[in-house]
Amino acid sequence: MSETMSPQLKQHVQSTYLTALRFRRAIKAFDPRREVDPADFDFICQAARLAPSSNGLEPWNLIVLRDPALRAKFVERTRARAEQAGQASHLVAVTAKTAKGISPDGDYLAHISATVQAMAPETIAARRDGFRDFLANRIEVLGSPEATFGWTARQAYLALENMLVAAALIEVDSCPLEGVDYGQATAVLAEAGLIDPELDAFAVAAVFGYRSADPKRPQARRPLEEIVRWA
Ligand SMILES: Cc1cc2nc3c(=O)[nH]c(=O)nc-3n(C[C@H](O)[C@H](O)[C@H](O)COP(=O)(O)O)c2cc1C
Repeated sequence: MSETMSPQLKQHVQSTYLTALRFRRAIKAFDPRREVDPADFDFICQAARLAPSSNGLEPWNLIVLRDPALRAKFVERTRARAEQAGQASHLVAVTAKTAKGISPDGDYLAHISATVQAMAPETIAARRDGFRDFLANRIEVLGSPEATFGWTARQAYLALENMLVAAALIEVDSCPLEGVDYGQATAVLAEAGLIDPELDAFAVAAVFGYRSADPKRPQARRPLEEIVRWA
């Protein structure tokens, strides 16, 4: 049991967190001369690592494109907006498991069950059956590669969100990027030997760095009363 947080500390944490969420904007233009410190980027990746996922399967990977030639190829082939994808300090391709990659009969399920979740070998067969039943009868995606990838990609977005918030907490700017050619993104990663496209595919990208210009418009959101309904 954790100790109860003092009212002062709670107020401080709430205010820090909301300040970070207000600081976080979808930044369009980055300063190409400013790099995110490796320790800071490690913190951002740790936040992704600790994201929740359905069945604890963490069906994502983060591919940090550091090689300038590979990154240039990714930006060009995916037609990503260059001021963001080309100039930010770090460009991350978030991949998610394909239906084959997350298959109840596949190696990944066995790997994560045994090595991460410390399941005994004799329970893994039952887990495969339980997971197959979950995919078929609970979320009803079994047999549909698109629906299955939609489900794994949704998990990947949770990791993405953790990264965006962690970055904002340490005043690192970011922008999620969906506006890219997904097929090309997967192809570039596969050609570079970074993924097996049968098992993993590009889900979403994000850039991290430091803004060179503030967003043109203030952050706008619907009021809480419009969003939350009490029943
Ligand atoms: C999943 C996702 C994908 C996005 N893709 C892009 C993108 O490709 N390019 C871009 O400039 N902004 C992108 N955005 C940013 C949104 O447009 C932005 O978050 C929204 O307009 C609210 O603005 P704010 O983030 O500055 O508060 C994306 C946001 C999310 C959550």
